[in-house]
Amino acid sequence: MDFKHDPDTDFKDPEALSSQEAEDQVQALREAIAYHDYLYYVKNRPEISDETYDALFARLQELENAWPELQSDDSPTCRVGAPPVDSLKKRKHASAMLSLDAVLKEDEVAQFHHRMADRFSSEKDKYVMEPKFDGLSVEVVYRNGSFAYGATRGDGQTGEDISHNLKTINAMPLRLQKNKNLPSFLALRAEVIMPMEGFSALNKKRVENGKEPFANPRNAAAGIIRQLDPSKVQDKPLTLFFYELLEIEGTAPESHWDLLQKLPEWGLKVSEKNKKVSSFEEAKQYHQRMKEARDKLGFEIDGVVMKVNDYRIREDLGTRQRSPRWAIAWKFEHKKEITRLTDIVVQVGRTGKLTPVALLEPVDVGGVTVSRATLHNADEVRQKDVRSGDKVRIERAGDVIPEVVERLKEQGRPRSEPFAMPENCPVCGSGIFQEGAYHFCPGGLACHAQLEGAIIHYASRQALNITHLGNKTARALVEKNMVKDIGDLYELGIDDIKKLEGFADKSAKQLYDAIQSSKKAGLDRFLFALGIRHVGIHMARVLAKSFGSLEKLQQASGSDLQKVPEVGPRVAESVSGFFCDKTNQKVLKHLFEKGIEITDVRKNKEGPLKGVTFVFTGELEAYTRSEAEQKVKEQGARATSSISSQTDYLVAGKDPGKKLEQAKNNNSIRIIHEEKFQKILEKGV
Ligand code: IVH
Repeated sequence: MDFKHDPDTDFKDPEALSSQEAEDQVQALREAIAYHDYLYYVKNRPEISDETYDALFARLQELENAWPELQSDDSPTCRVGAPPVDSLKKRKHASAMLSLDAVLKEDEVAQFHHRMADRFSSEKDKYVMEPKFDGLSVEVVYRNGSFAYGATRGDGQTGEDISHNLKTINAMPLRLQKNKNLPSFLALRAEVIMPMEGFSALNKKRVENGKEPFANPRNAAAGIIRQLDPSKVQDKPLTLFFYELLEIEGTAPESHWDLLQKLPEWGLKVSEKNKKVSSFEEAKQYHQRMKEARDKLGFEIDGVVMKVNDYRIREDLGTRQRSPRWAIAWKFEHKKEITRLTDIVVQVGRTGKLTPVALLEPVDVGGVTVSRATLHNADEVRQKDVRSGDKVRIERAGDVIPEVVERLKEQGRPRSEPFAMPENCPVCGSGIFQEGAYHFCPGGLACHAQLEGAIIHYASRQALNITHLGNKTARALVEKNMVKDIGDLYELGIDDIKKLEGFADKSAKQLYDAIQSSKKAGLDRFLFALGIRHVGIHMARVLAKSFGSLEKLQQASGSDLQKVPEVGPRVAESVSGFFCDKTNQKVLKHLFEKGIEITDVRKNKEGPLKGVTFVFTGELEAYTRSEAEQKVKEQGARATSSISSQTDYLVAGKDPGKKLEQAKNNNSIRIIHEEKFQKILEKGV
């Protein structure tokens, strides 16, 4: 029964098979389909015809239907037809998903190389060079060779479970290829990308169907991968590249290059452009070659990544808070193009800031159509001296808003009047004021543009995550005077929502439910949602952890605030100013009247295991239960007596109890034994 190399698709009637024969055939078919998926989607080198492949697939489906007990979550038939999920569940990453320090200039890379120079014990294979994919970073986890789950990067510690969607990506195997030494636990980082060809076709279809096209392949991939319904993902042109180890249990490779050799043996796609180098000179050549190859790759890259190869050296170098010391992203200069500026309009943002925006004759910049570009502020327009009708050079860097770089002089062409900032807000008519280089509208929530921005921000994913409340709905709610401050969101009934364009019974109920379920929120998200100037999600977390409750934060003086590491005078002033403001106080009162409930944050004890929760079961050799609990608490972790969604580690000693079974049913809990526990106590997670 060799379906791998020369499959015979003349199958017997399923009823003529014994149960053992059916099981063997199902196994052989699954292995063969996984292998042919690998050849087709990963290697780009199929060995059988589409018809033969379809016949193998249909046979597997036929047998699984006839013998339901043979069905399994890692069968290739599970890639399609899975039901939608209700929401995206949180997933704590196996280890932190850090980002990279990014530089543009060669001498900054040279400095990185100098910092590494005395670490190497051999002159050979110092670094691995890789393309820097411009996609979406995900964690993919295999347990005993079977796909267990996958998650978005989120805040680097915790992401959202997108297993249902990842499963539809054919280039991602549901089972690793048969191999001795498969690790019992393997957590990898990969980048989900949308190749250019698929991106153009998808956008064409969207425009034909009256939908907004995606701005670039990265946004397209990001939007699609977070869908709740996998049927909306399965026909989308997504693929992925694996590039980094997060955690392994089993035989660990000694170097990154070893890992990159292992991955394809397991059927995991890696870039063919990865390369070992031994000197800075070679790294430079790689950067140059990739820059030249960039437009021929078929997908977007925005630079290259230079990584120390030897894992021991990496460990010695360690990491900073957000990025490792052993790697650097060497980005490409941005993509530039020339077009004509047709007008300069002024946009009002959530904070009231007025931004001049250049409207452009649409132009393709590296595969993406650009028709607007920011001009930042009035000084910048003056300095660049751009006016409507001018020919301009524009630049696009990744998913950043395109910028106007400069004006191109055209001899003899008459020019229009210079741009002037309006004296009144173009949206609400209030007289505007200036702060530094920027102009602001003082209208606050009375200005519709600011109110609209505030609603969008409040509902955004990292804030209160009110799904189904997008830009269009926010605009309509403001235009129809249905929301005058954020608290009004909670007054909306299903019938009110149905009055908005595009809403019917079901969708109105969905938005209503989403609004209601945002009433319970963690302090950090709530603080971020309020849109306090200079308080991004990171600062909101810092404040929430330091003060523990909204009351305490409201009562804090400027100097109390500044006692918190990371809080400077700018943030302190903005936070205390926000809570003193009468309008803000009214909005907060309104929110609490409508039933907003803020869950306080337990102030974490400082320590290397801060934020980690342990549960123990069975007997440990070195410690009694309470000693072990005490040990982790000393390092800032929590120890609880029962398994819950908060549990990160179950430490299983001799004769474990039923907690072990419970933990096995929960993919996000790591089950470890005493030896690993000891290591964690010594070295951290
Ligand atoms: S390694 C700890 N390798 O670039 C180092 N990242 O901020 C982990 N990226 O979020 C990253 N291609 O999404 C690495 N070959 C590559 C990459 C890569 C793209 C992304 C990744 C990360 C961002 C850096």
